[in-house]
Amino acid sequence: MTVDKVHVELGADSYEIHIGDGILDGLGVNLQLIGFPRKAVVVTNATIAALYADRLLSALRRADLQVDMVQVADGEEYKSMATLMFLYDELIRLGTDRHCGLIALGGGVIGDLAGFAAASFLRGIPFIQIPTTLLAQVDSSVGGKTGINHPLGKNLIGAFHQPRHVQIDVAVLDTLPEREYCAGLAEVIKYGIIRDRDFFYWLQQNRQLLAARDHNALIYAVMKSCQIKANVVELDEKEESLRAILNYGHTYGHAVENLAGYGKYRHGEAVAIGMVVAAAMSVELGFSSQDELLEIRSLLQSFGLPVTPPELSIEECLVAMGRDKKAKQGELRFVLNRGLGDCFIVGLADPLKLLTAVMLRLTATES
Ligand code: NAD
Ligand code: GLY
Repeated sequence: MTVDKVHVELGADSYEIHIGDGILDGLGVNLQLIGFPRKAVVVTNATIAALYADRLLSALRRADLQVDMVQVADGEEYKSMATLMFLYDELIRLGTDRHCGLIALGGGVIGDLAGFAAASFLRGIPFIQIPTTLLAQVDSSVGGKTGINHPLGKNLIGAFHQPRHVQIDVAVLDTLPEREYCAGLAEVIKYGIIRDRDFFYWLQQNRQLLAARDHNALIYAVMKSCQIKANVVELDEKEESLRAILNYGHTYGHAVENLAGYGKYRHGEAVAIGMVVAAAMSVELGFSSQDELLEIRSLLQSFGLPVTPPELSIEECLVAMGRDKKAKQGELRFVLNRGLGDCFIVGLADPLKLLTAVMLRLTATES
């Protein structure tokens, strides 16, 4: 069975990402090779457990690991302090000590929650990511951001804690609901826009295979995405500067998520709208062309992603964007694209005029 590998070079915290078709069962051998603790707790939810837990647990036990499983409730609202406390309780009940590890089996919610439990329990124990959504495979499982939500904001409590290994089986995406799958594709397209023009064109050319979830096309798309993310994280692990480019489309996207009410848009859908807004800002400021804006818009649209900003007042959006953790010293920070395949970060003190022009441009583009 072929396995593609991406190495994440972070000194003592380096690790490998393995990507393949049907490689869920291969994890046990990898864990032996990297010296992962022989006693581990799999953290997942009931939806994913029903689909993949038996297979994973049997494979791990065949590789002589002593494994237990803890299930938490399914949903973003459970990426919370209460669920974290429940998880700590279960880990203590199961006798988890510093010679044990955690295995996150799930989407970004499980990965962030289990990762933060691993970062904080007993001052830190090792963990593995087995991402089962496309978003988690190309984004949240790589780079070591872990955390939970606070009632006053998303991801406000967390830590950087790198996984010891990431095992990505694209076959598990077969069971992912269509909307979740397409939301993940928005993040894949993001990598092409910000860092790799050839990859953007590859996505254009292979959109039918991707829409059909062709495993070979997915392996390539996930591998390219992980390579790009790994490269950025290697250069700026703690997001002191460069890593913020991964937030392309997120400044406006978070405002949309927030103002439309959490739950109306999936994160990737709001980011798709945010990317169109960022692309239009880049055109307004002369860094990109109208044709490139149209290419971005049409690629997103071809996967059924929303590309039209909802009818929200720009003033309200500006207030919501000001509350974002990416705002810095009174300036809103946007990631803008320079053509296709390159980007930069800009701080704007008063983007009202620019956003007004952008909304007019987008309305004209639609008609
Ligand atoms: P999610 O984890 O809620 O998963 C979406 C849904 O799909 C859930 O109901 C889940 O049970 C189900 N599911 C997962 N895998 C499945 C499969 N293979 N088959 C069928 N159903 C499956 O959502 P998500 O989009 O994966 O993650 C969103 C979270 O990721 C947010 O909390 C966000 O803040 C976080 N995130 C973190 C980072 C990071 O760098 N740490 C980056 C981006 C997003
Ligand atoms: N998802 C953005 C980051 O990991 O930095």
